[in-house]
Amino acid sequence: MTDSRQGNPDYRDSGLKFPDGFIFGSATAAYQIEGAVAEDGRGPSIWDTFSHTPGAILNGDTGDKASDHYHHLEEDLDLMQRLGLHAYRFSISWSRIQPTGRGPVNEKGLAFYERLVDGLLARGIRPIATLYHWDLPQALEDEGGWTNRETAYAFAEYARIMGSALGDRIDTWTTLNEPWCSAYLGYGSGAHAPGHTDGAEALTAVHHLNLAHGLAITELRKVVTNDPDFSITLNLHVVRGEGPGGAEAVRQIDGLGNRVFLGPLLTGAYPADVLADTAGITDWSFVRPGDTEIIRQPIDVLGVNYYSTNLVRLWDGENPRQSADGHKDAAGTPWPGADRVEFVQQAGPYTDMGWNIEPAGLEELLVSLSEEYPDQPLMITENGAAFPDTLVQEADGAAVHDPLRTDYLQRHFTAAHRALARGVDLRGYQVWSFMDNFEWAYGYSKRFGIVYVDYDTEVRTPKDSALWYAKLVATGIIPA
Ligand code: NOJ
Repeated sequence: MTDSRQGNPDYRDSGLKFPDGFIFGSATAAYQIEGAVAEDGRGPSIWDTFSHTPGAILNGDTGDKASDHYHHLEEDLDLMQRLGLHAYRFSISWSRIQPTGRGPVNEKGLAFYERLVDGLLARGIRPIATLYHWDLPQALEDEGGWTNRETAYAFAEYARIMGSALGDRIDTWTTLNEPWCSAYLGYGSGAHAPGHTDGAEALTAVHHLNLAHGLAITELRKVVTNDPDFSITLNLHVVRGEGPGGAEAVRQIDGLGNRVFLGPLLTGAYPADVLADTAGITDWSFVRPGDTEIIRQPIDVLGVNYYSTNLVRLWDGENPRQSADGHKDAAGTPWPGADRVEFVQQAGPYTDMGWNIEPAGLEELLVSLSEEYPDQPLMITENGAAFPDTLVQEADGAAVHDPLRTDYLQRHFTAAHRALARGVDLRGYQVWSFMDNFEWAYGYSKRFGIVYVDYDTEVRTPKDSALWYAKLVATGIIPA
């Protein structure tokens, strides 16, 4: 994930066909879209608690109603079918299944996901299920959350429940979504639930999340019956360095951002340099004998979420320290142990998140992963962009003209196509997001959907980018 190349190659954007069998889909996550937080026996998660904490979320937004997907399930599935999606990546709310994170199954909660999966299959759409997209049952957080080793075992039990219930119908099981965010933003910077700012907690959470992944895959394998793919989704960081200390800064961020996950997951060991960098924060005694063997489970596909790049250098200790890492409004640091690393503002253009648009970074990431792990198939499990959208009423109905989002997608699909041409074993691409939703600390202020959601009426309107995507899905060729 480290590369010194800079800049945007000149992409040509027509006549590019993806291989047959390439899985085009779109993604969401439970807390971001479902709403219905107190219905049918669902228990509270850390995101319910956090979003109701004054000052935690922009404009005081919460996921209480979100895109109200819980009550618009059939309509949303019909829309996916109209767009021709091959796959739908969704997440399961653990606290709908086990309201306190342990104990008996809440049948009504499970029934919702049965309807979702059956509805997908009836429409010929492959279900890609993520077991954990950040919404830990609050009762488990009350016992220490991901800093408590027991949470990993509770997660394995939940995975077994889901595997037993849906293990004849799910195409791809993803254990965790972006454990980097759960650990570092949840326990390090405090930008995400549960809002802690403690580097040692963040690193403890890293390990327990890795352990939870390994335990969950082990349990799933025992109970599923349809030979699914197993996976995990990581937000790997494309890190470029600047200045004399650039390479050292890159090493540190690549270590904490990428190798601390890839190491145990794919090679069975934590990187020695990361342990050394963080020795002043923790002695890593939470890693017990045998843990790395549990974590290193063969996975059929590695999920990659990609949005942007990072530029780092070593801070001179004098000038005001830059922190343009996309999390600059957080209270603590999401990078424990990397105290001298500075995130430098990169050249635009930017999305509405302030993230620089750099399609070459996606190609670079995919190529470097496939060089490092040549036998590991990859899937882009998220890519997309937030831009401000306006719903307009036209003679033939409502519309959202979002040329910037279409352009972003077109450039990133082109980059993925280039990676394929360079020999990367890339299996599919899930656009984030199927519909506008609750963008965590930014609430409803950021719209990532290819389908527009009017939050007053909950009416859905496919944006121009969705229509563009439908063309790509139908033909396999990137529309010019
Ligand atoms: C990553 C996360 O998985 C998703 O929940 C989030 O909305 C997008 N990136 C955009 O920030």
